[in-house]
Amino acid sequence: MMQRSKITTLTEFIIRRQSEYPHAKGALTRLLNDIATAAKIVNREINAAGLVDILGSIGSENIQGETQKKLDVFANETFITALKGGGECCAIASEENEKVISFRDDFSELGKYVIAIDPLDGSSNIDANVSIGTIFSIYRRVTEVGGGTEDDLLQPGINLAAAGYVIYGSSTMLVYSTGKGVNGFTLDPSVGIFCLSHPDMHFPEKANIYSINEGNYIYFPEGVKQYLKYCQKDDPESFRPYTSRYIGSLVSDFHRNLIKGGIFLYPGTAKKPEGKLRLLYECNPIAFLAEHAGGKASNGQKRILEIEPKGLHQRSPFFVGPRWMVEKVEGFLREAGENN
Ligand code: AHG
Ligand code: MN
Ligand code: MN
Repeated sequence: MMQRSKITTLTEFIIRRQSEYPHAKGALTRLLNDIATAAKIVNREINAAGLVDILGSIGSENIQGETQKKLDVFANETFITALKGGGECCAIASEENEKVISFRDDFSELGKYVIAIDPLDGSSNIDANVSIGTIFSIYRRVTEVGGGTEDDLLQPGINLAAAGYVIYGSSTMLVYSTGKGVNGFTLDPSVGIFCLSHPDMHFPEKANIYSINEGNYIYFPEGVKQYLKYCQKDDPESFRPYTSRYIGSLVSDFHRNLIKGGIFLYPGTAKKPEGKLRLLYECNPIAFLAEHAGGKASNGQKRILEIEPKGLHQRSPFFVGPRWMVEKVEGFLREAGENN
């Protein structure tokens, strides 16, 4: 009889990892499980998006002045409810909320962690049935008592305890790291369980994709323009010209580049010197994953994870991918004498 290979579920995997830390009490395990549960609920809603009256804008604007989509609101509420109910998290900062949401009840105040979240990333793609995601960051709190505060969240990425994303794509995956490798789990929709499908993810050595919104070309710094010319030159030995791929949803673009090999760029522009992406909700967690997958993430000159955040919704130029690719752009920026 043919033997079926043993499936490792997300829950088994994180419990096994936890047992490697003799003092761990299981809080991070429970937190990751809460995130996985909320992701399944959001996934169900996304899959039904074409069926019910949930497509389109809700009419209100988020703190960034962008129109919120109904699913953004749903995803935000779902993650907040799951994390509040779980009791391991004492505060959340969400891309969708201006201020930190501090949990002040007796139960959650004891939580040792805080979360920064982009509940729905790439939301402009919803109406077109294109992959979207959720990005999360987990920090140990720095305050000692009461509900979590902004101080707990304004920590540099090097302090991250864990980070990850969920991609709602042709299949739904959860990818996360606690600093010991990056592992990917695919949702088996028939049983509603995430199963280990991509153990120990690394950028492949052969990488030849570049992802950037080239429509902004005229506003790019000279160094980025030069780098794009370099990407488009003919040199088969270095896999050039590269292939251009851009979905417009960071999670999806990063996930593809991690699997197939490529760099993602969102530079500062003449119009938006700090770029578009948010340090806390987008750059830090993706940078953490990239580094643990053998890659690099930079704002053009500085390691993303070392930036001291000053505000919850701060933005940063972002270059992420295989180490050598990111270093190449940094070189072009340096030569052009530019800051980003
Ligand atoms: P969000 O949907 O959370 O606002 O994020 C959208 C972000 C990111 O996912 C993507 O990489 C970027 O915006 C795309 O921006 P452009 O449309 O300017 O290319
Ligand atoms: Mn986003
Ligand atoms: Mn978002």
